[in-house]
Amino acid sequence: MLLDEAINKLEACNQKQLLRFYNELDPEKQNMLLSQIEATDFSVVRTDKDSGARGAITPIEVTGMSEINLRRNEFMSVGLSEIRSGHVAAVLLAGGMGTRLGSDAPKGMYNVGITRDLYIFECLINNIKDVTKASGNSIHLFVMTSDRNNDATIGFFREKNYFGYDPDYVHFFIQDMAPASDYNGKVYLEEKWKISTSPNGNGGWYSSMAKGGMLDIVKDNGIEWLNVFSVDNVLQRIADPVFVGATKLSGCSVGAKVIRKASPDERVGVICLEDGRPSIVEYYELTDEMREAKFPNGDPAYNFGVTLNYLFRVEELNAIIGKSLPLHIVEKKIPHIDEHGEHIEPDKPNGYKFETLILDMIHMLNGCLVFEVDRKHEFAPIKNRTGVDSVESARELLKLNGVIL
Ligand code: UTP
Repeated sequence: MLLDEAINKLEACNQKQLLRFYNELDPEKQNMLLSQIEATDFSVVRTDKDSGARGAITPIEVTGMSEINLRRNEFMSVGLSEIRSGHVAAVLLAGGMGTRLGSDAPKGMYNVGITRDLYIFECLINNIKDVTKASGNSIHLFVMTSDRNNDATIGFFREKNYFGYDPDYVHFFIQDMAPASDYNGKVYLEEKWKISTSPNGNGGWYSSMAKGGMLDIVKDNGIEWLNVFSVDNVLQRIADPVFVGATKLSGCSVGAKVIRKASPDERVGVICLEDGRPSIVEYYELTDEMREAKFPNGDPAYNFGVTLNYLFRVEELNAIIGKSLPLHIVEKKIPHIDEHGEHIEPDKPNGYKFETLILDMIHMLNGCLVFEVDRKHEFAPIKNRTGVDSVESARELLKLNGVIL
């Protein structure tokens, strides 16, 4: 892109500050900046945080643990047969920045061990290995990274020998980035020659899989189900045959593993129906009315939180792949250079990142099996270093489940 073209593009979207240091740069860096301006979609930038009115919210039917236990053998045998037929693969969402944990390395490289090394990635691989041991065959694992952590993630898997998993079954792909702005919608510079960008949320995982050529692997191997899961829940069961069997038998397009909320204010997205379709209301969008709603028997009506472990039917994903997801504006700490060219490392949020979220995909699909799991055994998310959903709390839960730390 030529300088004139860049000026026109930036003027049209009110972002001319990005060329503030252009004249100071050497030709190579000037070109880097111009190419990035050409490649960046600035239309995502906005400052209006109102995500619009929601539809009519009503409770959703939940398949509870007692029902699951009664039908466990039936679900297990259907699930194992799907896995043995090669119909099930797993997708690890590891493109996030993990800013709350405060480590520069990919979150999965965090060592939760105490007397030995035990990395988050290793915990997850161990959990999948439980299933491959039971089924007797390998499961394809797709790993989503971002430009920021791709090399480090791949390097770490290689260095650790894929934690004993078959490397032919591990496939990495990179998600897209989006610009980050200040509170007035002005996109930050990370360097004088580099626009500040961050991963564009976990909602684009399937289109990023498509872009990264992963859908050929899906098709060539006859994969029909994708179990998508977050990097931070070290206790989650992955490609869990009981969950696979239950979702298949339900006839739903997607299954969601949920937990009974620990308290009405727990920071998890709550699953419900919105205008009769499955939907998730994020904890920060929860109204008092929803928080206090009760069934006639006194049970809370919106008491199940999503764990970011979903089983999608590939056929249905292909049907929605072109549809756009709502954009969420998230306040974050964004390191940048100021108008004087000084590097700033903020200690509190100073602007917006723009993300689409996987939870919005659920609303696009026909029918969701809401599958309850026991939080003591399947929910130990690591978001923070200490306190709630932290390294500390996850260590306690790992110990409770017999994992040696
Ligand atoms: P979180 O919502 O916890 O975000 O991601 P995060 O970026 O990892 O962490 P914070 O908020 O900065 O502390 C939930 C899951 O979605 C993945 C994360 O890696 C995690 O598995 N994710 C998130 C992506 O893969 N890409 C993204 O752009 C964002």
